[in-house]
Amino acid sequence: MNQLKEQWKKIIAQAIKSVAIKNNVTGEDWAQRLILEKPPKAELGDVAFPMFPYARDFKKSPPQIGLMVLEELPQDLPGRAVAAGPYINVFLDRSVIAKSTLSSILENSQTFLHPENLQGRNIMVEFSSPNTNKPLHLGHLRNNALGESCARILKACGAEVRKVNLINDRGIHICKSMLAYKEKGQGETPESSGIKGDHLVGQYYVKYNQWSKEDENVEKQAQQMLRDWEAGDPEVVKLWKQMNQWTLDGLKETYENTNISFDQYYFESQVYMLGKEYIQKGLDQGVFYKAEDGSIRIDMEEIGLDSKVLLRSDGTSVYITQDIGTAISRHSDWPFDQLIYVVGNEQEYHFNVLFHILGKLGFEWTKHLHHLSYGMVNLPEGKMKSREGTIVDADELLVQLTSMALEEIRSKGREGELDNPQATAHDIALGALHYFLLQVSPKKDMVFNPKECLSFNGNTGPYLQYTTSRISSMLRKAQKQGINWTDNVDYSLLKEEQEWELLRVMGEFPAILAQAGDSINPSIVATHIYLLAKTFSRFYHDLQVLNGSDNELVKARTALSQAVLLMMKQGFELINIPFLDKM
Ligand code: ARG
Repeated sequence: MNQLKEQWKKIIAQAIKSVAIKNNVTGEDWAQRLILEKPPKAELGDVAFPMFPYARDFKKSPPQIGLMVLEELPQDLPGRAVAAGPYINVFLDRSVIAKSTLSSILENSQTFLHPENLQGRNIMVEFSSPNTNKPLHLGHLRNNALGESCARILKACGAEVRKVNLINDRGIHICKSMLAYKEKGQGETPESSGIKGDHLVGQYYVKYNQWSKEDENVEKQAQQMLRDWEAGDPEVVKLWKQMNQWTLDGLKETYENTNISFDQYYFESQVYMLGKEYIQKGLDQGVFYKAEDGSIRIDMEEIGLDSKVLLRSDGTSVYITQDIGTAISRHSDWPFDQLIYVVGNEQEYHFNVLFHILGKLGFEWTKHLHHLSYGMVNLPEGKMKSREGTIVDADELLVQLTSMALEEIRSKGREGELDNPQATAHDIALGALHYFLLQVSPKKDMVFNPKECLSFNGNTGPYLQYTTSRISSMLRKAQKQGINWTDNVDYSLLKEEQEWELLRVMGEFPAILAQAGDSINPSIVATHIYLLAKTFSRFYHDLQVLNGSDNELVKARTALSQAVLLMMKQGFELINIPFLDKM
């Protein structure tokens, strides 16, 4: 579509030149002044060229100039131009657009949706980054959805992307579940108890918290355990390894179950020492100072913040110490052009400070660091609280969504049509979850409503999945009827408003994707896929596809539907919604 607009710009520019020559207006290259606008309403045309910029030099009013320009247009044009007051409005030749849009989607479906705005850039995306003392919760699901989708979008825009996960596997919180397990666990394991590893470890974290309320010595024991761990006590290290492995196995199962993956894992236990080293270096360079209590700190007055402890007086590190080490080791592993941290907005302060410190330490690449901060996921009051009452467990939520989706399938009497209703229900649950989490701009807080997100109608993932499964079933039928929609299709037959609208929405997708990549915002893609689905539904509702009487038109509309399907499928990939050819 843009190509055709540019072609029109050249045509109009040429006509303006002729007007200038005929009227003896000399001077600059008039084409330079030509601007391309969008008419305020679609009925007025697809492109508008204002004539105001010529009035003074041509000594004519803009409407007069418009009429003169029209006179100079050649006969054979890719569309139609009309004078509309001070504008020339152009209606693009729909058959040209239909042909170019559809043949490029159908013939180059792998490359059509690949803008190249981020070509050649190396981008690392850190997301999820859980602690190994408990399983994932709803907040992580938003994080995972955002991280995975951003990575896929950036890749589609041409970047080389590395998805990384930082496992916070050391520190006092880890020792807490270890201590409770050691005292009260009686050697139970995920196998012996039949409990998924991360949940088992999480149970001991909860037990620790109860226990520490009853016994004030417990806290000290946990501190001692941390020191023993740092000193490499073999017993403690053995237990730590075992319990971390349980958690990791459990986490990985949840990732797999939600189609989330990573190229690389970083473990805090392996990088926190590196952080300590750099604190020492910064101290030597005079970037940090030693406070009276023996702790090492940074003064942040220049950015309007209080001082911050980087190493405690007993030499143990704090949360930010490991992040300093991690960032440095990542950049030497893989010198990125950008590192995106997908982390909730409650850590904005943390990342401000981190970026400031790395800058002070002299790392020039600090300017490539970006905190993709996202809002809270709240729940409608009184619903879906987990046993501890505050957070929603990710695995439990998925099970619940899946069973709700299965119920929906049954209530629609669709169970018999499906090869594996349970698997379909799971995919619907994922589609519902990911779409719901991603259609909102990352910055915004949101309320997660399980019932609403699972609806087959409206602005939901299942509605999108339903739209594509309908197209798939229509194409199966077309095949059975022997319709050949791949060869010799006359796209110029697609002239209806509904068809034009579909072509327009599809044609815009690459630019929309580029915009989502530049602004690191999957909601832009999600919104466009929804627009595409809605536009298709209107087309399908208003016009005959397979039942039409004109065979050539049936072919063209089937090809159009096929292109929509391809485009939606690629869109689904970008926001991690499973495609279903039946549901
Ligand atoms: N594990 C941390 C938490 O649960 C989040 C880590 C975020 N990433 C980072 N590089 N600091 O709060």
